[in-house]
Amino acid sequence: MTRGKFITFEGAEGVGKSTQIALLKEKLENQGISLVVSREPGGTAGGKLIRELLLKGDVSRWTAKTEALLMAADRAQHVEELVRPNLESGTWMILDRYYDSSIAYQGAGRGIGIEKVRALQEFATDGLRPDLTILLDMDLDVSLKRALSREGDNSDAEDRFERMDKSFHQTLKQTFLDLASKEQDRFKVVDAGRNIEVIADDIWSIVQKRFELSS
Ligand code: TYD
Repeated sequence: MTRGKFITFEGAEGVGKSTQIALLKEKLENQGISLVVSREPGGTAGGKLIRELLLKGDVSRWTAKTEALLMAADRAQHVEELVRPNLESGTWMILDRYYDSSIAYQGAGRGIGIEKVRALQEFATDGLRPDLTILLDMDLDVSLKRALSREGDNSDAEDRFERMDKSFHQTLKQTFLDLASKEQDRFKVVDAGRNIEVIADDIWSIVQKRFELSS
């Protein structure tokens, strides 16, 4: 049995990850690939409870360390219950956020330190590394505006992180770009400030090339 491929999407708030994941899912399924799309936090039944704890309530509800541990708890459950078993049975996994989000948000944004948060990921995932990480990058003012305008049509939209200030989001954006430049074999940075179809075509050619798929 060939192991399924593991693709993650990362980026700041409002960069259009879910739209692009849905488009990629359709293209992969047209190739007859069996795949599961999931997200963090909240990809399992237990994880949904952890997600509630994390995203609702006051910005000051959790210390940075508690937040990192809750994210890691959600991830450990997700990897063991869903992600690894699917990959091992040949199913591809696409995740809307994975450990790079913890490194950016908790490690850099909330100031715990990148290396400390990275070590926690090793423990939570037993070192399960994505085969490909698509980083959607765009102008911060545009993405933040988009994220805030989702308020109302998505109950999670105005979550704790969207209420952080602009410098927090600037740090996230820069940290994601730094992570991408340090792991160029895993990351592909895609300019998400363009038309949806153009971005989707770009992502599709990256995926085709990386996994040697036909068009
Ligand atoms: P979500 O509504 O899924 O936001 P988005 O559509 O931007 O992915 O909420 C997830 C929030 O949790 C988002 O603000 C990013 C944050 N987060 C972390 O801080 N650390 C993490 O490890 C993960 C996975 C998410």
